[in-house]
Amino acid sequence: MNVKEQLTQAMTMPFGKVLADTMASASFVDGVWSEHKITPLAPLQLSPGAHVFHYASSCFEGMKAHRGQDGRIRAFRMDRHMARFRNSAEMLCLPFPADDLCNRMIRELVSVCDHWVPEHPGTLYIRPTLIGTEASIGSAASPSKEALLYVVISPVGDYFQGGQRPLKLMVEAKKWRTSPEFGQAKAGSNYAAALKIIQDAKKKLGVDQVLFAPGGDVQETGAANFIMLNDRQLITKPLDNSFLPGITRDSILKLAQDLGYEVVERKITLQDLWEWIKNGEAALTGTAAVLAGVGTLVYEGKEILIGDGGIGPNTQRLRTALLDIQKGLAPDTHSWMNNI
Ligand code: PLP
Ligand code: COI
Repeated sequence: MNVKEQLTQAMTMPFGKVLADTMASASFVDGVWSEHKITPLAPLQLSPGAHVFHYASSCFEGMKAHRGQDGRIRAFRMDRHMARFRNSAEMLCLPFPADDLCNRMIRELVSVCDHWVPEHPGTLYIRPTLIGTEASIGSAASPSKEALLYVVISPVGDYFQGGQRPLKLMVEAKKWRTSPEFGQAKAGSNYAAALKIIQDAKKKLGVDQVLFAPGGDVQETGAANFIMLNDRQLITKPLDNSFLPGITRDSILKLAQDLGYEVVERKITLQDLWEWIKNGEAALTGTAAVLAGVGTLVYEGKEILIGDGGIGPNTQRLRTALLDIQKGLAPDTHSWMNNI
């Protein structure tokens, strides 16, 4: 299959299934980072004793490059993704390159693979990944002295199967997605910790995701942040260490402010949530999810509609505002788009 055919196929496949045929990598050995290599996509060769396999020393980023109306390719808010990546690495005691190595790896890979960037509504999902590679199965309480940083890229369509449709979420009022301090890290282990809860909810209730609200504190879902909005206001939980500081969340908050909404960052209790959804809208923000409307919540076995159960007009409006900037249809007033 040629690349064009693979791009078409990727739009109907599950998100992230199709990888481009080229990747970038750099390694950390003897205290120094190597220069990066751009190579054909290939399996990694790692010791079965590598730190990552035993002690989950793994973190990643998820960002996107867009093909604008003018045909040029631009990545969205690379600086913010790099800053969060560095923070995740620090939290996992993994080395992170001091200069702009990761930034250069991404730019070079995307330039070489420009034919892998689909036209909107397709985008190129970029997955920089950092793992501890030292072979040392006794290092449960010490960091990996060696690491591998690599970037793979994937042409993607919608994250949630079935395209633009209102989502159904189970509200989990007891269990945490991850440990309170670690929610801010984009660590592979956080996704592993939440997987069973999400999987059980999907199987038993047919939901798309779980909204974590431990002790009644509405935080985020397993793969996106949570906001509530109406014609006048946008409300979301203020940043703390318990959940991922989403870059889409930050962008939507800024766009909402530009459009005259009152943006309120405050704690959301379950009581607030039940009250809000009688008339208001709810949505998820994320690189993969973009801005996805929520139509139904399931709590203690009961289904509760949000408004009329559809995607709300304010959700649509803000989604279009963000996508228009990414497509190059609206001015990039916040300088979010980075030329590749
Ligand atoms: N929360 C979780 C757990 C996520 O996996 C993501 C996706 O990256 C987000 C929030 C949203 O973050 P961002 O908007 O930076 O993609
Ligand atoms: C993202 O939106 O980038 C995510 O990480 C979500 C998911 C694919 C894990």
